[in-house]
Amino acid sequence: MITKCLFPVAGYGTRFLPATKAMPKEILPILNKPLVQYGVEEALAAGLTNIGFVTGRGKRAIEDHFDVSYELEHQIAGTGKEKALEGIRELIERCTFSYTRQIEMKGLGHAILTGRTVIGDEPFGVVLADDLCFGEGEGVLGQMVRLFNQFRCSVIAIEEVPRDQTHNYGVIVGEAISDNIFRVTDMVEKPAPQDAPSNLAIIGRYVLTPDIFEILEQTEPGKNGEVQITDALLQQSKSGCVIAYKFKGRRFDCGSVAGYVAATNFCYEQKYLKDD
Ligand code: UTP
Repeated sequence: MITKCLFPVAGYGTRFLPATKAMPKEILPILNKPLVQYGVEEALAAGLTNIGFVTGRGKRAIEDHFDVSYELEHQIAGTGKEKALEGIRELIERCTFSYTRQIEMKGLGHAILTGRTVIGDEPFGVVLADDLCFGEGEGVLGQMVRLFNQFRCSVIAIEEVPRDQTHNYGVIVGEAISDNIFRVTDMVEKPAPQDAPSNLAIIGRYVLTPDIFEILEQTEPGKNGEVQITDALLQQSKSGCVIAYKFKGRRFDCGSVAGYVAATNFCYEQKYLKDD
């Protein structure tokens, strides 16, 4: 059974400067809830209660968010405002939180390898909290954990993107097992549209088997001089099996201003405009 979920949150969030100069991008709110809280809610809904963060400098606010604020709680005790903290309190009660630091930002693959100390030798989920996902019926990570239980190998979430966007993603080639499930045969990190072998882009949800750590240890820096998880997954797909899953639901790239605004509008419509 999978119980652990890793949140790499050490990145600089340069696409969102100056907002992210002194504040982690994962704390940016969609309506009144930080992105990272949506991510942890999704992990909990998938049954993953051991939450591990790979943090970096300037990310203290994330630790504080998943802790009790006694002064604040004392201040609002007995008022209607207590309700606003119910969701985060439930997460604090039902999950455990561990933290390790990535000292140098050497890429997502390196961040995941840094998380080995909190994961150990078992399969685990990975959530990139700036990719905000809303599953249809079931959360996206929950859908992936079910697939993992069926295939017992790494599962990565994919989405069809417009051709002119492929340079922002890892792109896969795969043999279709069914409509939404592919066995990965090739992967390219951030290909130019003319070089992209498909428009099936990897988004920020993974279920990984622990052999990925040994592979990551051997993975040389790739595109942009960073250790790419895509390169390690390609290696894993060659020696074993990696499943790519076209999830049911919607995803917003909240690491970009346009995606963030789209997510905000989507959530506002869902939450406040329903009864109008
Ligand atoms: P991104 O490239 O989307 O995040 O990395 P970033 O670097 O923070 O953002 P920009 O591009 O400068 O705006 C994907 C995820 O991997 C994490 C990031 O925190 C993000 O969740 N990451 C990336 C790390 O934890 N460490 C790294 O060295 C790189």
